[in-house]
Amino acid sequence: MSRRDYLANLRAATPAVYPSMLMCDFGHLKDEVDRLESAGAQVLHLDVMDGHFVPNLSYGLTLVEAFAGITRLPLEAHLMISNPGDYIERYFQAGASSLIIHAEAVERPRPLLEKIRDLGAVAGLAINPPTAADTIRDCLDVCDQVLVMSVMPGFGGQEFDRVALDKLRAVRKMAGPDLLLEIDGGVNQATVGESVAAGAQLLVIGSGIFKHHDYQAALRQLTAQAHQN
Ligand code: DX5
Ligand code: ZN
Repeated sequence: MSRRDYLANLRAATPAVYPSMLMCDFGHLKDEVDRLESAGAQVLHLDVMDGHFVPNLSYGLTLVEAFAGITRLPLEAHLMISNPGDYIERYFQAGASSLIIHAEAVERPRPLLEKIRDLGAVAGLAINPPTAADTIRDCLDVCDQVLVMSVMPGFGGQEFDRVALDKLRAVRKMAGPDLLLEIDGGVNQATVGESVAAGAQLLVIGSGIFKHHDYQAALRQLTAQAHQN
């Protein structure tokens, strides 16, 4: 499928809940993914942390490859790493069809976003809670997706920061209607509604799914709530 068609499919399937796999049971990866897939997950969100850009280390290429080997669901790599430019190609080859880099990690995101698009992947740019929406204005024409963080990245299970809501609205105003808007961090049953109301189309959810025994029920309920807005 072409990049263009893939993006059109992603847009058509919004609002959508993308499970963040940070808190899954890595000893039973295939079961975990199968459960989410049969509950309607469309994309898996993979949190890559380097212990440098963020104060936590999660996983890297090997695990992205492992996910790619056990599911046909598209994978989105959220690169919380200091030198994303050195790794973009490798994460794409490992199986990620969307690559999200952080605006705070590089001086000039533009060439990296262009590189991601040239590879045929979806180009995403993330901003942390203290980063103003205006700082990415000049890059929006080369972004397919903007990820507004509603926690400081590094850990799952943190409290939702409402600063993300105004920022979603600000990014939508600056960008055209085709840009995909995503929110990540502390999204759960209590915050999913206001996130969608502020313009989030893609809702990354970790503990809101994985802290429940029945992941499928949690995912279905969160998706239904997102559609009510
Ligand atoms: C935070 C990660 C998130 C996080 C989501 O650094 O980018 O994807 O794990 O988990 P919850 O939903 O628990 O905040
Ligand atoms: Zn994430």
